[in-house]
Amino acid sequence: MLLFSLLLALQALLVHSAALRRDSLTTAAREKCQTTLQCPPGTLVVSSTAHPLANFTTLQSAIDALPNDNSSQTILILSGSYHQQVNITRAGPITLLGEQPDPAALTDAARNTVNLTWAAANEDNTGESVDNVYSSVMIVSPTLDASLTGSGTTGYPVPADTPFGNTDFRVYNIDFRNTWADYTDGPAHAISFSRSNGGFYYCGFYSYQDTVYIGKLGSAYVHSSILAGETDFLYGFGTLYIQSSQILLRSCGGGITAWKGTNTTFVNNYGVYIHDSTVRAANTSIAPDIKGACALGRPWNSLHRSIFANTHEDGSIEPSGYIDWEDRWTANQTLMAEYRAFGPGFNLTGREESEVSVLLGDKGYERYSSIEKVFLGDVAWIDWEVAA
Ligand SMILES: *[C@@H]1O[C@H](CO)[C@@H](O)[C@H](O)[C@H]1NC(C)=O
Ligand SMILES: *[C@@H]1O[C@H](CO)[C@@H](O)[C@H](O)[C@H]1NC(C)=O
Ligand SMILES: *[C@@H]1O[C@H](CO)[C@@H](O)[C@H](O)[C@H]1NC(C)=O
Ligand SMILES: *[C@@H]1O[C@H](CO)[C@@H](O)[C@H](O)[C@H]1NC(C)=O
Ligand SMILES: *[C@@H]1O[C@H](CO)[C@@H](O)[C@H](O)[C@H]1NC(C)=O
Ligand SMILES: *[C@@H]1O[C@H](CO)[C@@H](O)[C@H](O)[C@H]1NC(C)=O
Ligand SMILES: *[C@@H]1O[C@H](CO)[C@@H](O)[C@H](O)[C@H]1NC(C)=O
Ligand SMILES: *[C@@H]1O[C@H](CO)[C@@H](O)[C@H](O)[C@H]1NC(C)=O
Repeated sequence: MLLFSLLLALQALLVHSAALRRDSLTTAAREKCQTTLQCPPGTLVVSSTAHPLANFTTLQSAIDALPNDNSSQTILILSGSYHQQVNITRAGPITLLGEQPDPAALTDAARNTVNLTWAAANEDNTGESVDNVYSSVMIVSPTLDASLTGSGTTGYPVPADTPFGNTDFRVYNIDFRNTWADYTDGPAHAISFSRSNGGFYYCGFYSYQDTVYIGKLGSAYVHSSILAGETDFLYGFGTLYIQSSQILLRSCGGGITAWKGTNTTFVNNYGVYIHDSTVRAANTSIAPDIKGACALGRPWNSLHRSIFANTHEDGSIEPSGYIDWEDRWTANQTLMAEYRAFGPGFNLTGREESEVSVLLGDKGYERYSSIEKVFLGDVAWIDWEVAA
């Protein structure tokens, strides 16, 4: 039995090594760059204040200076706050590193020293409403069309001939904060990520509503990160896999997840999958106010798919778990699920009484039980040194 497990582990390691991008940074080289500023040749350095190593004062100017080809590029952002919207359309691999002078804090997203901030909701400066994308701290998408949320249950009809965007986007130790309001006041994206593949490691995403948007054909992997919001703060049409992270409730509204599935002629796994994580009140002051009041999610359309797997839920979660939304829930189509969720927020009686919450067994969970399965084998853009 033990030998068998060892063989399986070895096989997984080999598969993952083969999937490693040939020119991706090793963990050792990345951490050296982030802590000592000794980086691989060609690394661009962004600093908000004068610094002898700096090439740029804003991230956007560094992005704009990258060659328009398929080469892998790395940008190191020095400690500080950067108040600017960033828009990335480049297809070639990009790695963004946040400086972290303390090696002991490299795996602790709560101690990040690089902030990308913007303060906007879905309205322009005359108060007219605009698409949610314009609120984003960072947009990763090949075109404007590909990044639009649009309206209605199926969203903006992205033209079929739209090219794919970034094939391999990686971010380490950077916080994305949309500081528009400190309560729910319209969509306020921290990140908008569409038609691209990306991994976010030790990052922070902070706003109150619609914080993380994974748009159509977006595939995102989030590891050891903090996702903080109030209303529908994980939403979109794409695929989001969250591993070993903290989901922080800054209050309650809508649900944590508000996914929109898409009918396709091919098999898809569009949805949000939260693994081995914690869901809890953002702090002890807010905890008593939201006790038993926050929903795990609600269906933006009937093809909503979300799973909280092996995840600890604190007392903020309401007994029913998930909730319906304008009757969009449809039996055997909407998947608003948990798999081995636990903690004071997991009320078995409440879940069983709920019409909409699904408790998955091993068989139902199987299809979503690994990164490879969720992304249907397309996983070369994941940092397997961290994810393994
Ligand atoms: C960035 O700035 C450093 C320090 O001035 C310089 O050595 C390096 O060549 C610059 N890199 C690029 C790509 O311009
Ligand atoms: C990048 O690679 C893709 C396919 O891998 C290719 O279609 C495209 O032309 C390349 N782009 C550039 C600018 O070389
Ligand atoms: C990042 O922004 C938050 C919120 O505005 C602020 O509290 C924090 O001090 C900032 N951190 C840095 C490193 O600037
Ligand atoms: C991002 O940049 C592209 C290319 O310049 C542009 O077409 C698009 O409108 C920008 N997106 C937003 C949301 O401003
Ligand atoms: C607790 O979190 C809420 C929601 O983010 C915030 O408004 C409040 O200031 C926080 N309180 C403390 C003591 O940090
Ligand atoms: C997907 O197709 C099913 C079955 O035809 C239909 O009931 C549902 O409304 C469709 N959902 C979306 C979001 O297109
Ligand atoms: C949903 O699936 C269950 C089990 O397969 C079946 O008993 C039930 O009739 C189905 N409900 C609908 C509305 O299709
Ligand atoms: C669990 O849910 C049931 C049914 O909604 C409810 O009666 C009970 O009070 C809940 N228990 C706790 C500890 O919230």
